[in-house]
Amino acid sequence: MATGVMSFLWSLVAVLMVAVVSAGDEAALLAFKAQVSDGGSLASWNSSADFCSWEGVTCSSRRPARVVELSLNGSGLAGALSPALGNLTFLRKLDLSYNWLHGEIPSSLGRLRRLQRLDLYDNSFSGTLPVNLSSCISMTNMGLHNNKLGGRIPAELGEKLTSLATLWLRNNSFTGPIPASLANLSSLGNLDLSANQLVGSIPPAGLGSIRSMWLFDVSSNNLSGTIPVSLYNWSSLELFGVRFNMLHGRIPGDIGTKFPKMKFLGFNENHFTGTIPSSISNLSYLINLQLGNNRFSGYVPATFGRLGALQALDLGNNKLEVNDNKGWEFVTSLANCSQLQTLVLGGYSFGGQLPASITNLSATLQQFTIADSRVSGSIPRDIGNLVGLNRLQITNNFISGVIPESIGKLHNMIELGLYSNSLSGLIPASLGNLSQLTRLLAYYGNLEGPIPASLGELKNLFLLDLSTNYKLNGSIPREILKLPRLSWYLDLSYNSLSGPLTDEVGSLANLNQLILSGNQLSGKIPDSIQKCVVLECRMRSRERSLESSHSEPHGTYKLTL
Ligand SMILES: *[C@@H]1O[C@H](CO)[C@@H](O)[C@H](O)[C@H]1NC(C)=O
Ligand SMILES: *[C@@H]1O[C@H](CO)[C@@H](O)[C@H](O)[C@H]1NC(C)=O
Ligand SMILES: *[C@@H]1O[C@H](CO)[C@@H](O)[C@H](O)[C@H]1NC(C)=O
Ligand SMILES: *[C@@H]1O[C@H](CO)[C@@H](O)[C@H](O)[C@H]1NC(C)=O
Ligand SMILES: *[C@@H]1O[C@H](CO)[C@@H](O)[C@H](O)[C@H]1NC(C)=O
Ligand SMILES: *[C@@H]1O[C@H](CO)[C@@H](O)[C@H](O)[C@H]1NC(C)=O
Ligand SMILES: *[C@@H]1O[C@H](CO)[C@@H](O)[C@H](O)[C@H]1NC(C)=O
Ligand SMILES: *[C@@H]1O[C@H](CO)[C@@H](O)[C@H](O)[C@H]1NC(C)=O
Ligand SMILES: *[C@@H]1O[C@H](CO)[C@@H](O)[C@H](O)[C@H]1NC(C)=O
Ligand SMILES: *[C@@H]1O[C@H](CO)[C@@H](O)[C@H](O)[C@H]1NC(C)=O
Ligand SMILES: *[C@@H]1O[C@H](CO)[C@@H](O)[C@H](O)[C@H]1NC(C)=O
Ligand SMILES: *[C@@H]1O[C@H](CO)[C@@H](O)[C@H](O)[C@H]1NC(C)=O
Repeated sequence: MATGVMSFLWSLVAVLMVAVVSAGDEAALLAFKAQVSDGGSLASWNSSADFCSWEGVTCSSRRPARVVELSLNGSGLAGALSPALGNLTFLRKLDLSYNWLHGEIPSSLGRLRRLQRLDLYDNSFSGTLPVNLSSCISMTNMGLHNNKLGGRIPAELGEKLTSLATLWLRNNSFTGPIPASLANLSSLGNLDLSANQLVGSIPPAGLGSIRSMWLFDVSSNNLSGTIPVSLYNWSSLELFGVRFNMLHGRIPGDIGTKFPKMKFLGFNENHFTGTIPSSISNLSYLINLQLGNNRFSGYVPATFGRLGALQALDLGNNKLEVNDNKGWEFVTSLANCSQLQTLVLGGYSFGGQLPASITNLSATLQQFTIADSRVSGSIPRDIGNLVGLNRLQITNNFISGVIPESIGKLHNMIELGLYSNSLSGLIPASLGNLSQLTRLLAYYGNLEGPIPASLGELKNLFLLDLSTNYKLNGSIPREILKLPRLSWYLDLSYNSLSGPLTDEVGSLANLNQLILSGNQLSGKIPDSIQKCVVLECRMRSRERSLESSHSEPHGTYKLTL
């Protein structure tokens, strides 16, 4: 009898506990819902259904049912996070990424000792990272990137979250140093602290002992000092990014033996010195090598051709020795990189003759840039071999000779920059074949003869600048004045253009600036110009200066003659 009563009482207690505990989770979920506007995505969160069946909610199968997962990524949620979420103490995964949540991350989340994944990325959370999160001792993945969090990265994270494998804090406003305590996270594989305002040096001690590291990105901060030698112990590393900082020092000569799996090496925009180690050529998985805007010196290794996976190489703005045949040898080698897509060269230390061997680079090449250098010679006749090119920038150099006819074969071209050189001769009519072209910049040169009417075929062109060649002559082709997309500006100033400005000028309805000063144009300005609703028209000549400003029903335009 007594046992019967006892067992009845115990069942009652158990039932009550189920009710109490479950009600606790339900109440916490409802408190969460009460603070967000959901645009209907939480319509299933109503009392006619068990909370375990609510959208995004997953419960444990054991009794009492407890919420183990809340996943509402990309659900259009706006508002603040209720501290009541800290009551969901069985939660293993909380994913509220891709929403419009703001305010602080509640420190009550520190109560979630079973939490393994916290994904709050792509929201607008602000305030600091609560130290209490370091109590979530089961945490393996923390994705807080693309928010507005600030303050220091709590050192406690490194001391307590010993299972942490992924820590993504990219694109926030974190300040202060990288905590040295992160060295304790022996399972860490994926550390992205880029695009913050971190200062100080990369902690010298310990980090190197994390054998599992495969992604390390601290780019776009304000870090100084050198790269600790111990980091070169990360033999599993596939991505190493220290770009856009104030780091200095040399790349060790044996780097090629250190990172057998390396795919992305980003050193650009720092103060690195020394030579580029030829052992880099041994990193056979390397896809992207960014060394630009540093102070690297010496020759570029002529063995880069061994980098069979290489897609992007930036060497621009260094102190490299690239000014004679030996210096340019690496280009011949790069012809072997059959997947190359981007090659960025240039800077003051680049000189000598532009090697014709650039035309042997892979047809996969999409972008070739050589800017702000002292490179002479001509654009190789067979430039048209590089059929994959969509951006070709040979700008601010000493390049002479003609623009080769074969350039018309580069059908993928979107941006063509040939300005500030000594290019001469006629503008090839074949340019009219580049039907994808949006920008054509060939100012400051010695181009001569008429502007080919075929440029009127460039239906996607929104910027055309052929100014300051002095010797372009003939009249302005009507076809150019009919280019449908021309909107940014059309600059033909300081040439020898003559004849009238034809009525077609009225079709440049979206043009912002038409600059024709310094020519010998004559006749009257066509009335149709009033149709150029956004036009600011400058047609200065030295002889007379008369300004008139009209306000038309169509809009306003300014005219200076
Ligand atoms: C969360 O738990 C605390 C204490 O355990 C309790 O006071 C509070 O009412 C709970 N909040 C909700 C919304 O359930
Ligand atoms: C309550 O949620 C269920 C699904 O869980 C849904 O079928 C029902 O339409 C919802 N009721 C209201 C009033 O939104
Ligand atoms: C949400 O997460 C799930 C599972 O991780 C994923 O399949 C889905 O694409 C994500 N949705 C959005 C909008 O990010
Ligand atoms: C944060 O952690 C401290 C110490 O563990 C604790 O006293 C405090 O209650 C926690 N804050 C919240 C909101 O849970
Ligand atoms: C950085 O995060 C903000 C949200 O805080 C987002 O709007 C922006 O697109 C992100 N920037 C990048 C480059 O991802
Ligand atoms: C690592 O954690 C221990 C405590 O677990 C702590 O004493 C030590 O200072 C930590 N190391 C670093 C580099 O923070
Ligand atoms: C790096 O590796 C070498 C040899 O493998 C070892 O002697 C050294 O202690 C390691 N350094 C760190 C900081 O882990
Ligand atoms: C970086 O630090 C330097 C001095 O250490 C400072 O002058 C500069 O403003 C900082 N830049 C940013 C973007 O914080
Ligand atoms: C590249 O690796 C090969 C063997 O795989 C080795 O013989 C050569 O010395 C290495 N080159 C450099 C520059 O480290
Ligand atoms: C050319 O590339 C292949 C792999 O893509 C490589 O094995 C070979 O060594 C390279 N040759 C030169 C001369 O770099
Ligand atoms: C391009 O490569 C071929 C084959 O290696 C070679 O014969 C030719 O001279 C090269 N052309 C240029 C311009 O370097
Ligand atoms: C360019 O197009 C013209 C026809 O407009 C054609 O005759 C010429 O061969 C083409 N040139 C190139 C280089 O593609």
